[in-house]
Amino acid sequence: MPKARKRKLPITDTDPVPVASSSKPESSRAVIRRFHVLLKRQVQLQKSTQTDVSKKTELDRVEEEIEQLGGLENYQRMSTIGQGSDRGGGSQKVLVNWLKEKRMHRTESKLRLLEVGALKPDNYKSYSDWMQVTPIDLNSRHPSILEQDFLLLDKTENLEAWDIISLSLVLNFVPEPTDRGNSEI
Ligand SMILES: C[S@@+](CC[C@H](N)C(=O)[O-])C[C@H]1O[C@@H](n2cnc3c(N)ncnc32)[C@H](O)[C@@H]1O
Repeated sequence: MPKARKRKLPITDTDPVPVASSSKPESSRAVIRRFHVLLKRQVQLQKSTQTDVSKKTELDRVEEEIEQLGGLENYQRMSTIGQGSDRGGGSQKVLVNWLKEKRMHRTESKLRLLEVGALKPDNYKSYSDWMQVTPIDLNSRHPSILEQDFLLLDKTENLEAWDIISLSLVLNFVPEPTDRGNSEI
C-alpha cells in the first residue's frame, strides 16, 4: 500500500502548530512561539475599533486555538520544561551570578527581589540567607506564588519596595509595546 503523504504547511505567523505531544525542545519552543503570536493578536483584536464580523470571526479563531493548545497552563508547563537543568536551568542562575559579581550577596540586610513570571515558588530557595523573594504571576501555579498582573501593581506603593525586579521572559509576553514601556514601577 502506498505511504500516505504528509501535507506540508507553510510557516507563517498565522499557521497553527500542532499541540506538542512531547517535551522535545523544538516542540516546546514552537508552542511557546505560537502562544506569543496568538496572545498578541488576541489583544490587538480586543483593542481594535473595527466593528465588522471579520473581527469577531478572527478573535473566535484565535481564542479557539489558544484553547486547543492548552491555554496559559500549557504555556507555563512548556516554559517550566525549558527551565529544567537539562536545558541549561532557569534565569535565577544568571541573576545570582550577576549579583555575586557585584558583591550584592554581602549586604547587611537581605535583598528584596520581586520575581515576575514565577513558574515555581522556590527558584531562589538556595539563596534564602541573603535574598527575600516575592514570586508573582498572572496565573499562579502554587499557593506561595501571588497571582498578580505586574502591570497593575500600584506604582506609588511599590516605589521603594524592591531592590531587584526579575522580568525574565516576561516582557516579550506583554503584547502591546506601550504596556512594555510602562512596566517600570
Ligand atoms: C516564559 S514564562 C516565564 C518564565 C520564567 N520567568 C523564566 O525566566 O523562565 C512567562 C511567565 O510570565 C507570566 N506573565 C506574563 N505577563 C505577566 C504579567 N503582566 N504579570 C505577571 N506575570 C506575567 C506568564 O503567566 C508566564 O507564567
